[in-house]
Amino acid sequence: MNASAIRPEEIDYRFHDVDRDDVAALLLPICSEIFPDFEPAYLGRLQHVADPLLVFARHREEVVGFKLGYRRGARLFYSWLGGVHPSVRRVGVAVELMRRQHEHVARLGYTFVETRTRASNNPMIVLNLRSGFQVVGFELDSGGIPVVTLRRALAHPPA
Ligand SMILES: CC(C)(COP(=O)(O)OP(=O)(O)OC[C@H]1O[C@@H](n2cnc3c(N)ncnc32)[C@H](O)[C@@H]1OP(=O)(O)O)[C@@H](O)C(=O)NCCC(=O)NCCS
Repeated sequence: MNASAIRPEEIDYRFHDVDRDDVAALLLPICSEIFPDFEPAYLGRLQHVADPLLVFARHREEVVGFKLGYRRGARLFYSWLGGVHPSVRRVGVAVELMRRQHEHVARLGYTFVETRTRASNNPMIVLNLRSGFQVVGFELDSGGIPVVTLRRALAHPPA
């Protein structure tokens, strides 16, 4: 896949039912491309979270990006995991996935989206800050890696 050959209008976006059996098959190939040493068991968290929500991007039937999150509180949506295929970066896929996720969860009644990212992950932090998130926390994770928590208040759609 060659990003320079891909036009944004060739990418389509859709939501997917996370309870379906095919969700791991859908996500494992793209997760392996995005995250080195991705452990399939990591997706097992989906069986224990409330109201999971998946939005993904496709180019010619191939999944090229996704965003996955779930309920963390009555009005708080947690954006857990996501990314874009290395060959399709900087064409706006992550921005569009986030826009659709936030619009959807605002319609569901959530008022905040929260996310965590490694402090060293500049692309994700820049993207989050440009999208209206603010830093609300900093910690070292169980492995001693610095992690930043960011939160965004959602604009509510008209009733
Ligand atoms: C972070 C990531 C999702 C961005 O995806 P993307 O589709 O390339 O992002 P977009 O094209 O929508 O970029 C939107 C804006 O984010 C910022 N951004 C994206 N990548 C960046 C980079 N490498 N460096 C600095 N800023 C960056 C820019 O402001 C960019 O706007 P611009 O291209 O007009 O300058 C992608 O790099 C990725 O998948 N990274 C690995 C997975 C990951 O870290 N996931 C988060 C933890 S779960």
